[in-house]
Amino acid sequence: MDIRNKVVIVTGGASGIGRSLAQRCAAAGARGVVVADIQQEAAQQVADGLPAGAGLALRCDVRQEAEIQALVAATREHFGQVDAYLSNAGILGKAGGIELDDELWNAMWQVHGMAHVWAARAVVPEMVARGEGFFLVTASAAGLLSIVETAPYAVTKHAAVAFAEWLRIAYGRRGLGVACLCPQSVQTAMVASTGGDSSAAHDGVLPPEQVADDVLQAMHDGRFLVLPHPEVLQYFRAKGQDYERWLGGMQKLHARHTATG
Ligand SMILES: NC(=O)c1ccc[n+]([C@@H]2O[C@H](COP(=O)([O-])OP(=O)(O)OC[C@H]3O[C@@H](n4cnc5c(N)ncnc54)[C@H](O)[C@@H]3O)[C@@H](O)[C@H]2O)c1
Repeated sequence: MDIRNKVVIVTGGASGIGRSLAQRCAAAGARGVVVADIQQEAAQQVADGLPAGAGLALRCDVRQEAEIQALVAATREHFGQVDAYLSNAGILGKAGGIELDDELWNAMWQVHGMAHVWAARAVVPEMVARGEGFFLVTASAAGLLSIVETAPYAVTKHAAVAFAEWLRIAYGRRGLGVACLCPQSVQTAMVASTGGDSSAAHDGVLPPEQVADDVLQAMHDGRFLVLPHPEVLQYFRAKGQDYERWLGGMQKLHARHTATG
């Protein structure tokens, strides 16, 4: 899809990758960029920094379907329609595995799983009826390859990848562009919260602007998988080629990066 003169919603738009996506979409000529986030003030600042008339900040908690519906309705009211939805909000949560409480697991399922489903439910029928639209799921390399420090993040990001795949399979021939963003480490508040000592930082920590550029290129090219760290494709192939060996390598990584390893 060509983003020029289009209307785009970016969730998690107040910070990090989402903020860069909002800025890059505006710079590429989008006529409307909705910066949606639970952090209202920070979202407003991002919207205020966009070209006059293009930015709109809306508070939205993507853990609530009603709030996603209200976000889409408010965008339609303000800009007329939604051409692209970048479902990007995410949380890292705590490190750990089976001992982590259900509250954390449920939050992860909602933000990395159902939020994408609810968003697609709100925008995809209209896009398909128009014969054009774009939906991005920001997943993670952890959704293709796991991440040893946190089970809820690894598992729910796999769900995000699976949902993006399914959308592409079901709607990709009906005018809907679907892309799935799977970076390793990106220089954002999320990574800062880990103190920089993450297994995901092995191949370097990329600036969010570069990641946003890769998304816009994929949107333009109609490509599904967006891999700002090219090494991820190599690891993904290695996993497919010899799953048992790959698991052995991940066990070693787990031992290096966790106290229980
Ligand atoms: N930074 C990385 O290394 C990295 C790597 C792979 C994937 N990702 C993914 O990229 C996405 C963006 O993360 P980031 O690195 O820019 O982090 P970030 O913390 O800078 O930004 C995340 C944004 O999402 C918002 N958010 C969180 N929960 C929300 C909710 N319930 N409703 C609405 N907004 C909510 C936050 O307020 C924040 O503004 C996430 O999905 C994350 O999992 C990040």
